[in-house]
Amino acid sequence: MKKENTKDLRRLGTSELFVSPVGLGCLQFSRGKGFSGLFWSETDHSVIEEIVRVSIENGVNWFDTAELYGRGESEKSLSRALSRLNVPREDVIIATKWWPLLRTAGSISRTIGKRLSYLDTDRVDLHQIHNPFSFSSVASEMREMAGLANKGLIRYVGVSNFSAEQMRKAHMELSRYGMALVSNQVKYSLLDREIEKNGVLDAAEDLGVTIIAYSPLARGLLTGKFHESPELLRERNYFRRLYGSLTVKNLERSGPVVEALASISQKYDAAPSQVALNWLMNFRGERVVVIPGASNVRQAEQNAASMSFKLSGDDLSLLAEVSSVNAE
Ligand SMILES: NC(=O)c1ccc[n+]([C@@H]2O[C@H](COP(=O)([O-])OP(=O)(O)OC[C@H]3O[C@@H](n4cnc5c(N)ncnc54)[C@H](OP(=O)(O)O)[C@@H]3O)[C@@H](O)[C@H]2O)c1
Repeated sequence: MKKENTKDLRRLGTSELFVSPVGLGCLQFSRGKGFSGLFWSETDHSVIEEIVRVSIENGVNWFDTAELYGRGESEKSLSRALSRLNVPREDVIIATKWWPLLRTAGSISRTIGKRLSYLDTDRVDLHQIHNPFSFSSVASEMREMAGLANKGLIRYVGVSNFSAEQMRKAHMELSRYGMALVSNQVKYSLLDREIEKNGVLDAAEDLGVTIIAYSPLARGLLTGKFHESPELLRERNYFRRLYGSLTVKNLERSGPVVEALASISQKYDAAPSQVALNWLMNFRGERVVVIPGASNVRQAEQNAASMSFKLSGDDLSLLAEVSSVNAE
């Protein structure tokens, strides 16, 4: 299996984890189970295996999953695929997340055993707090995470959907234990540039934290396929349309960005979706890495191959300008 070109890897925060600019989002591996099962139907294990294989072959060296995704089904499917592909555990980086809603920080330690068992590993590379909504404070969550790191059960700590203030708090709390916050995983794409305005990106720069951009293709909208064939919207179930904001109004709103992507993509012999990902991974230098999800093998291959070129400064600026008018 082809390995990534190490010179292109990016340091995650101040950690010793070096990740490819594109990682693989594994929400799509929930196999129809749990909350995520409302959006994505069951993907066969053989397809998951192929998605993982082509991703690695095209330079992806890390995977983002979560306890929430199919109630652990995504974690299990990912480790099953890696094992069947004979990928040595140390060759890839795995990030997972603890689900905080209606829970207290103590459950981070109570649930780590399941994470390790489902991922078939003795150490999680990056453990993240999935969102800031828990019965416990950020301070207790960071204490719990630091305790796991101390026991060697996790390597680094990240957060997700945290505001600038919550990031700073998490970073400060971790520093009490000689650790640093490594990443904040947030929604970021050419159609949603909120983090550029709400202080999250600035806080990431200040703290040396990496932004992991989720929903980088705006859940499919930025591929242009729904603009080209609006009838595809009807093929997605109600929850998927709701989750992805896949509405006729949003097709109209995103039209100018998608047109600009299509026009620029011709210069690079690339797909519009690849240009959208390339913009996100380069517009802010190395601060941002992206984790597109893939529903099939072709998408995974195409998304990973978006690392094979680099948009010029003019094209980065042009897209930033067009999208600033049309982004949320
Ligand atoms: N931390 C959080 O709160 C959070 C929240 C959401 C997601 N995430 C993470 O971020 C990852 C990605 O986010 P996401 O899945 O919401 O959004 P996304 O990556 O923007 O969109 C993924 C969807 O877009 C379509 N797609 C992907 N690549 C394509 C291509 N090359 N050509 C055409 N269509 C393509 C597929 O859907 P169809 O084939 O059905 O069109 C795919 O399921 C997830 O897997 C998860 O790991 C994290």
